[in-house]
Amino acid sequence: MNFDAIILGGGAAGLFCAGVAGQRGRRVLVLEKAEAVGRKILISGGGRCNFTNLGAGPANFLSANPHFAKSALARYTPRDFVELVERYAIEWHEKTLGQLFCDGSAKQIVAMLLAECEKGSVEVRTGQQIGTVSHGEDGFTVEANGETHRAPALVIATGGPSIPKMGATGIAYDLARQFGLKVVEPRPALVPLTLGGKDVLFRELSGVSAPVEARAGKATFREAALLTHKGLSGPAILQVSSYWRHGEVLRIDFLPDAAPGWLIERKAGTPQAQFASVLREHLPERLADTLAGRLGLSGPLQSLSDKALRQAEEALRGWQFHPNGTEGFVKAEVTAGGISTAELSSQTMEAKKVPGLFAIGEAVDVTGWLGGYNFQWAWASGHACGQAL
Ligand code: FDA
Repeated sequence: MNFDAIILGGGAAGLFCAGVAGQRGRRVLVLEKAEAVGRKILISGGGRCNFTNLGAGPANFLSANPHFAKSALARYTPRDFVELVERYAIEWHEKTLGQLFCDGSAKQIVAMLLAECEKGSVEVRTGQQIGTVSHGEDGFTVEANGETHRAPALVIATGGPSIPKMGATGIAYDLARQFGLKVVEPRPALVPLTLGGKDVLFRELSGVSAPVEARAGKATFREAALLTHKGLSGPAILQVSSYWRHGEVLRIDFLPDAAPGWLIERKAGTPQAQFASVLREHLPERLADTLAGRLGLSGPLQSLSDKALRQAEEALRGWQFHPNGTEGFVKAEVTAGGISTAELSSQTMEAKKVPGLFAIGEAVDVTGWLGGYNFQWAWASGHACGQAL
C-alpha cells in the first residue's frame, strides 16, 4: 500500500503528528525502530510525564533562530494539549512553575497518542530497521525490514541522540545531511556538569542539595542544585547546562534568599556567632562548612573585619565553578542543536529545499527548558506538520 506520508520515529512528535494528519484523512505510516513506541514518554517526569508547561512560550527555548518556534507554539498551545488530555479523562496536576504531570502514569499519554493515531487509521509499525531512504520523481522511498514504502511526504521525527541506551540515534542528522540540510552541531543539554581541578573538593559533598541561583552566560535559573560524585546536578544546573559552553565559568549564588549585607548585619546583632554556624542558617551544614573552609574564615563574626565579611558575601553570591565538561549524551535529558531551522518553514516544518520533507520535535534545533517545554515543542511542531501533510 502506498501512503500519503511516512513518519520516521514513533516518539512524542511523530505519534502526535501522525494522529493529526491521519484524522485529516491522510494515509500515514509510522516506522519506529524500537519494539515499542514512546519510550522516552514512559520514563519522563519520573514515570508521570511532565507533558506540558502552562507558561510555555518562545523565551523558554534555545535555538540559533529564537523566533522560529513562535508560530507553531502559538498555533498549538499548552491549553490545547490539556484539552486533549481531559478528553481522555487523564487526571493531572500542576507540580510547580506551571509544570503539568499525570496523576497516574505516563502510560496514559502513550495510550492517548495511540488512540489518536487509531482514530486517523494510522499504521504504526515497531521493530523497524530503516535502510535506504531516497527521493525521486515519485516521492520518497523508504526501505525497512526488507519492505519498500513510498509516499510524497517524509517526516523526520527520530529525536536526538540523548540516552542512547533507549535506542536514541543520530539518524535525523544523517538524513538531513543526505538531503542537503544543515545541522547545528548537536550537544548534550539538560545535563549534569562535571568538576575537576580546584572544584574537585565539592565532589566530596555528593548528595547535598541547596537552593541557589545558577548563572551561565546571560541565563539565570533559581532552583535547587545538587552536588554529585562527578560534579553538579539538580534542576538549576540542568537548566543552565543548556546555555553553558566548554571553557566558560558557571556562577552560583549560594545566598539567593539572604538580604544584601546580611553577614555584616549578623555581626552587629550577634557578634559571638561562629562564621560557619551563620552560613548554616542559609545552607546545608556540610556545604556551609566546606564553603567557610574555602573562604579561609572561621571563629566568631566579631573577630572578622567588615571587609572580609563583605568579600565573603560577594564570593558566596557569585561562586565560580569551572566545569570541565558534561556527563554527555548518556545522561542528557535532551539534545540541543539539530536540523537547522534556517532550512525549515516555521509554519509547516517543511524543508525549503526539499518539498515533501519535514522535520519535527527534538531532531530540530529547538530545545526547551526543563519542565514540560520539550514535550510542548514536540506537540506544537508535530501539529504544525500534521496540518500541512
Ligand atoms: P523521541 O525521542 O520522543 O522519539 C523519537 C523516536 O524515534 C523514538 O521512539 C526512537 O526510538 C525513534 N528512532 C530513533 N532512531 C530511529 C531510527 N533509526 N529508525 C526509526 N525510529 C527511530 N520532556 C518534557 O517536556 N517533560 C518531561 O517530563 C521530560 N522528561 C524526560 C526524561 C528523560 C529521562 C528524558 C531522556 C527526556 C525527557 N524529556 C522530557 C524530553 C522529551 O522526552 C523529549 O524532548 C521528547 O521525547 C522529544 O520528542 P521526539 O518525538 O522529538 O523524540
